[in-house]
Amino acid sequence: MLIACWSVKGGSGTTVTAAALSVALANGVPDRRRRASGVVLVDLGGDLPAALGVPEPSGPGVCEWLSSADADADALARLLHDVRPGLHLLPFGSGPMPTTGGERLALALGGMGSVVVDCGAPGSPVGLAVAGSAALSLLVLRPCYLALRRALRAPLKASGVIFIDEPGRALGVGDVEDVLGLPVRAVVPHHDGISRSVDAGLLAARLPRQLERAVRSAA
Ligand SMILES: Nc1ncnc2c1ncn2[C@@H]1O[C@H](COP(=O)(O)OP(=O)(O)OP(=O)(O)O)[C@@H](O)[C@H]1O
Ligand SMILES: [Mg+2]
Repeated sequence: MLIACWSVKGGSGTTVTAAALSVALANGVPDRRRRASGVVLVDLGGDLPAALGVPEPSGPGVCEWLSSADADADALARLLHDVRPGLHLLPFGSGPMPTTGGERLALALGGMGSVVVDCGAPGSPVGLAVAGSAALSLLVLRPCYLALRRALRAPLKASGVIFIDEPGRALGVGDVEDVLGLPVRAVVPHHDGISRSVDAGLLAARLPRQLERAVRSAA
């Protein structure tokens, strides 16, 4: 199952949501299966090691794989780094991110089992191509009028929305569903405890409970 998290505006919470989703899914993999399979988290933005609180992987990543036209799915699998039992990171590598090859990447990821992709910068061609091929394409959105306007013009139709529930906003879940014609699949609380956990590099080691509960309902 290929799950893509993407956004239409920077700083929406895409990286945090994708990381949380992968950790929540890995937490649900039974121990005996963790060695054999697990969850693959793909970094198309470059922020995931810092968000997870793991060392920056050395060596090549997705950027190098995309730059090599004859690199295949086996070569992609060799780029994986273990984050913890049951969770593997496909690192960003050394940018800049190529602008072509997204369909080839999505095809290779399709054979890797449970895969969560942080599609990176809004509008990135590779990120959009992967999101367009994903079984579950999740638009991460803050209830902001400007973001909603951009979402209406998005070049891609999501399967659903991850609603980042910031306090004090006038727009609610119903408004977003009405305007975009998409289901809100999860409401993620915008909470100090979550940003502090990210800043402390604790997302992989100790996923905040309210974040885990919210993203589980999306998958
Ligand atoms: N649910 C949340 N509660 C509190 N803070 C959050 C939440 N989600 C994200 N943040 C904070 O918001 C900021 C932006 O989050 P994040 O980096 O995930 O966004 P992004 O969409 O990936 O941004 P970019 O477009 O730069 O890749 C970070 O400081 C992060 O800690
Ligand atoms: Mg990001």
